[in-house]
Amino acid sequence: MKLIQIVGARPQFIKYYPLSLAIARHNAASSNGIADILIHTGQHYDYAMSKVFFDEFGIKSPEYHLGVASGSHGAQTGTALQRIEEVIEKEHPDAVLVYGDTNSTLAGAIAASKLHVPVVHVEAGLRSFNKYMPEEINRILTDHVSTVLVCPSATAIKNLAAEGIAGNAANGGNIVPQGWFGNAAVNRPDKNSPMVVNVGDIMYDVLLHAVAIAGQRSKKIEELGLSAKNYCLLTVHRAENTDDPKQFAKIVKFVNEVSGGRTVIFPMHPRTVKMYSTSESRFADNVRIIEPLGYFDVLMVLQNASLALTDSGGMQKEAYWLKTPCVTLREQTEWVETVAEGWNVLYADFTGTHAPASNSGHAYGDGMAADRIVDVLANTL
Ligand code: UD1
Repeated sequence: MKLIQIVGARPQFIKYYPLSLAIARHNAASSNGIADILIHTGQHYDYAMSKVFFDEFGIKSPEYHLGVASGSHGAQTGTALQRIEEVIEKEHPDAVLVYGDTNSTLAGAIAASKLHVPVVHVEAGLRSFNKYMPEEINRILTDHVSTVLVCPSATAIKNLAAEGIAGNAANGGNIVPQGWFGNAAVNRPDKNSPMVVNVGDIMYDVLLHAVAIAGQRSKKIEELGLSAKNYCLLTVHRAENTDDPKQFAKIVKFVNEVSGGRTVIFPMHPRTVKMYSTSESRFADNVRIIEPLGYFDVLMVLQNASLALTDSGGMQKEAYWLKTPCVTLREQTEWVETVAEGWNVLYADFTGTHAPASNSGHAYGDGMAADRIVDVLANTL
């Protein structure tokens, strides 16, 4: 089969990596190979936001780089949509796979579904129930035009069912056993009768792989002169926190208070750099602003932190898996399991200390999501 995958923003390069490896494994073992064509929309374009991940993971250069870059939501999504459509019309793929909830995700989903190419959405079914978030709009719209909805959790399956996308979830909505679709007689999904499947979270695949080598590869702890469990890691980039000066001021105040003089390492996203350059709010001197980090570096800095303060979905889960307590700088989270297990707390609920004792580590599967996705691709589309 011919598969087009669409990436454009930082977390998507990370999620592509384990799937590209699983496709290579499949192709080595099967005569029914998957041709993997990669489109980079160019939504993220700074070295530290994009190419560093290709270099770190040894990801191939994309077959297509669409050079979309920054712009308003309409301009960014629209330009990506138009350029993705041209590639689909040229390549005639059997499916288009999109990840997550960015403008690149939505552009890919609309382009493919209007050309009647099945859309596979990885990280389907997540909801914050806050439609003021651009990501929530992107998720809802993408899910509703998808043919295969690949979910990371049972909660995601339930969220889709509540919106009428029941898609007779494979294995009753529980994580499917490895090789399930190769063995089971499955009806071919269609966008009018989509398939919903829980494979666990592909971010766990990446983490398990990377944590094993991050210790050797990354020298960030030494470079930054940090000692283990003696500092906090902060990340802030969500539009809801960085586009409104009042909200941004609230975050700055919270971080200054919570850190209480402890060192806070803050790799600052370009969106946040912009806001900080015009904001009157100032982080206290103990907050050290640095450039965005690569994946191996961020894992090491997170693993050694005593506390994570973040509005990133990926980092909430990484904190959970690495057993670094986490305070989420948002009003709600899609990753409700991390809160239910007591590992993660929303900042509105933070009472001054957050030192959870343990978590199961298994809220999002076993780190073998990519092979399950390949099983779906190879045997149902
Ligand atoms: C996007 C996603 C968000 C995801 C995040 C990961 C949407 C709506 N949002 O947010 O869900 O969590 O990526 O980082 O798609 N910029 C640079 N250099 C870059 C990239 C961005 O300077 O390499 C600046 C641009 O000025 C741009 C701004 O950052 O206008 C925001 O970038 P954009 O891609 O629009 O959204 P993100 O905030 O990164």
